[in-house]
Amino acid sequence: MQRRKFLQYATASGIGLLGSSYLYKHNANAEQNQAASLSGVGAVPNTTRYTPLLIPGDSGPLGRLEMSDAPLTLSARSTTLPLMRGKPSPFLIYAAQYAGKNYQNPIIRIKRGGKFNARLQNDLNEPTIIHWHGLHIPGDMDGQPRHTIAPGGHFDYAFTVPNRAGMYWYHTHAHHLSAKQAFFGQAGIFMVEDEDETALRNALQLEPGVTELPLLIQDKQFNSAGELTYTVNPMQHHLGQLGDTILVNLTPQPQLDITNRLYRFRVINGSNSRIYKLAFIQRGKMLPYAVIGTDAGLLERPYPAQQEFIAPGERMDILFDASQLRAGDEVFLKSLAFNPLQGGAMAGMGDVMGGMSGLGGTNGSRLDLGAEFEIMKLAVTRHGATTPFVLPSKLSTIARIDTSGAVLRNVSLTVRRMLWLINGETFRMDRYPLRSRRNTIELWDIQNADMSMPHPMHLHGFSFQVVNRRNSPDQVRKLARDTSGRLVTDLGWKDTVLLWPGETMRIATDFTHPYPGDQIFLFHCHNLEHEDQGMMVNHLVTAA
Ligand code: C2O
Ligand code: CU
Ligand code: CU
Repeated sequence: MQRRKFLQYATASGIGLLGSSYLYKHNANAEQNQAASLSGVGAVPNTTRYTPLLIPGDSGPLGRLEMSDAPLTLSARSTTLPLMRGKPSPFLIYAAQYAGKNYQNPIIRIKRGGKFNARLQNDLNEPTIIHWHGLHIPGDMDGQPRHTIAPGGHFDYAFTVPNRAGMYWYHTHAHHLSAKQAFFGQAGIFMVEDEDETALRNALQLEPGVTELPLLIQDKQFNSAGELTYTVNPMQHHLGQLGDTILVNLTPQPQLDITNRLYRFRVINGSNSRIYKLAFIQRGKMLPYAVIGTDAGLLERPYPAQQEFIAPGERMDILFDASQLRAGDEVFLKSLAFNPLQGGAMAGMGDVMGGMSGLGGTNGSRLDLGAEFEIMKLAVTRHGATTPFVLPSKLSTIARIDTSGAVLRNVSLTVRRMLWLINGETFRMDRYPLRSRRNTIELWDIQNADMSMPHPMHLHGFSFQVVNRRNSPDQVRKLARDTSGRLVTDLGWKDTVLLWPGETMRIATDFTHPYPGDQIFLFHCHNLEHEDQGMMVNHLVTAA
């Protein structure tokens, strides 16, 4: 089957082209990575120089900002942050002063149904705009390339947050500048709270900032002076920028000291293009964890997991039980090796494609996509009496979208002359290739071409449900939770989903919303280099 597929591909593309082109490079390191043992080390030097993980407090960088009725001003500005062990690095932040405290890239916390009033003040020397990723708000408040404001300008946001509790986020969506600005720091977390959350925290005695922590994972590139550098050659522009230094909450090589109890980690992949396969490893063995939530909030119940993919833009809410560990134990949150499939669905045929891979390093990173590496060290430093807990069997209610009679649309992801396309289109502000009618339910069959790479696809303005995955690569199918091929991260409300080459995913969306008139939203790839080069289309939700 795979061989037949490869031959079809070879015929369609012309193997000569494939052999001479760096475009569909087979990742030569993938096989080595696959073969490496779990305790093996990736490209990041495994020195003992760990830095304490930045734990969000109630001010400062990533500080928790409790939103009241008072309006918030976020100033987009450039500054320096001592990211690499005290060395100042240029960084772009959202600075805020609120209720007498100073924040940089605050974690904005608001109750479901709360009113949000904020001004974005552009104190950068280039255009920018903020988008509220995952929020169900009017198109005019969404923050899109067409809303980009000039230096010195401002944009006023005013909306009610209708979303269920979950970890949403905000980041730049500036026209053609998103990838660079996000790389330099323009991104933050937007937490929505409701009763389900309170019930969970009470049941598990979770304390935000102590036993419940956001983990914002980003890969960055630094120069020898310890400064962030964003340089993309045409290949990185095409595949996506990859950094070789992993930051968690802006901390390189982070260490978190834990005690023997349950922890909740709210993981967000805020990387430009890197996909992670998350696992907790102790002495070469995988430790179990539980997935309790996805992009837009809690799952109905906890699901046991060992290794799960998280793509740019996605969030994954997990519980890690350290109550069996003892003082002195060390556990590593890692990204395990996987086949990056950047050469398309047939790149798994290492022996065939491997011969054409004398083009290594074309993506310019010393840490290839799919390599295994450490993300964070967890050190059990204190040991106390274990606090017994009972995992609630029900976390929330997720009503299945009734898709009987729903419109079915096809959405294709393809490539032509190094340009990634959605339904054959590249982004044009004045074109509306996707149209849906307000208050209707639609099924979309999103089909990623065989000759492609993984694309994390994101829908603005609405959460959706994954109905099925078809024709998934082996490494994905192995993790399927049901006969529809869905992964654990597909079992809740979503706004971003990873499509592997050759894969087709059916999603269901209810386009019911309370906003009058036509509303403009977006559907795009959350590989930010892809987004900037136009793997994005307007999605018009028409009034009738
Ligand atoms: Cu998080 Cu349009 O993006
Ligand atoms: Cu979004
Ligand atoms: Cu993409």
